[in-house]
Amino acid sequence: MHQSTEFPLTFANNDIMPAFGLGTWKASGPGEVYNAVREAIRIGYRHIDCALRYENEDEVGRAIKDAIAAGEVTRKELWITTKLWNNAHHRDQVVPAIKESLNNLQLDYLDLYLIHWPVALPSDVIFPSKASEMLSLEEAPLIDTWRGMEDAVDEGLTRHIGVSNFSIKKLEALLADARIKPEMNQVESHPYLQQQPLFDYCRKNGLHFTAYSPLGSMDRPARLKKEEEPILLKNETIGEIAETHSASPAQVLIRWALQRGSAVIPKSSNPKRLQENFDTRNIILSPEDMYRIAQLDRNYRYIHGEFWTMEGSPYTQATLWDE
Ligand code: A2P
Repeated sequence: MHQSTEFPLTFANNDIMPAFGLGTWKASGPGEVYNAVREAIRIGYRHIDCALRYENEDEVGRAIKDAIAAGEVTRKELWITTKLWNNAHHRDQVVPAIKESLNNLQLDYLDLYLIHWPVALPSDVIFPSKASEMLSLEEAPLIDTWRGMEDAVDEGLTRHIGVSNFSIKKLEALLADARIKPEMNQVESHPYLQQQPLFDYCRKNGLHFTAYSPLGSMDRPARLKKEEEPILLKNETIGEIAETHSASPAQVLIRWALQRGSAVIPKSSNPKRLQENFDTRNIILSPEDMYRIAQLDRNYRYIHGEFWTMEGSPYTQATLWDE
């Protein structure tokens, strides 16, 4: 059985999302994401995670189009997710934004559209350089953004909608007022940031959970890195477990996420590692392996969202993550 279909996540309308997908953040060199997506589809990947703000949707779109034209895959077999950027959070901006992504991706519909961050910006700002270039959630309430997401479903532009980087508190507020319920929360998750309460909350409330940066996102730009970060891929316990299964640390991290019931979207642009990440079907982690990995949690975030919480911003680390 293919890795891409081994862990199906079923939605209320019986659509099935392959839990294993390709991350495309940071695949930004010329041709890099085109080659990665073509290779991934050849290997058997069927789920691709995108975002307008990764600035590479057009290359992803060309790769999908060429793979379909080459007879390697059909549109129906693919699960394509992309995300709404923070500067289009007013209700009437959402449908034009999804149309822009669809145009970049050369698709008629998305499988899943997510609010990228619970953070709003004025329409002419892409990344704020100062606090005055931000909008508060009072000025751009998330429920208004959600109404736009619902409009996108009504217009047939996406089959499912959800969120990213949302806390339990923000999900509770959204679920209370949503006409069409969110079906996904995509957040950072790996053994150092397991987010078990959030995971359980999603499960109980009809949302799936996607783990981003599952390998520790070591190729982030230096400005987004803290000094002396723990290196997940070099964790001793993960290394020991990998050795007992003749697997790589990355494979153990991916398999852990899948066995836990999460979707997982490791990024790679390297053909050998794309294959390695796909090939985890023979690595069955034992209950003891799962238990040992559960003990590694240290509530450690690699992605802090510090770009939203500069001095004077309407957002602080405490209000962004609600912790
Ligand atoms: P590369 O694209 O050169 O393969 P994350 O998914 O957590 O954001 O991590 C992505 C980073 O992990 C990238 O630097 C990627 O590099 C690297 N990576 C992807 N797969 C593997 C693997 N199997 N082993 C080691 N590093 C990997």
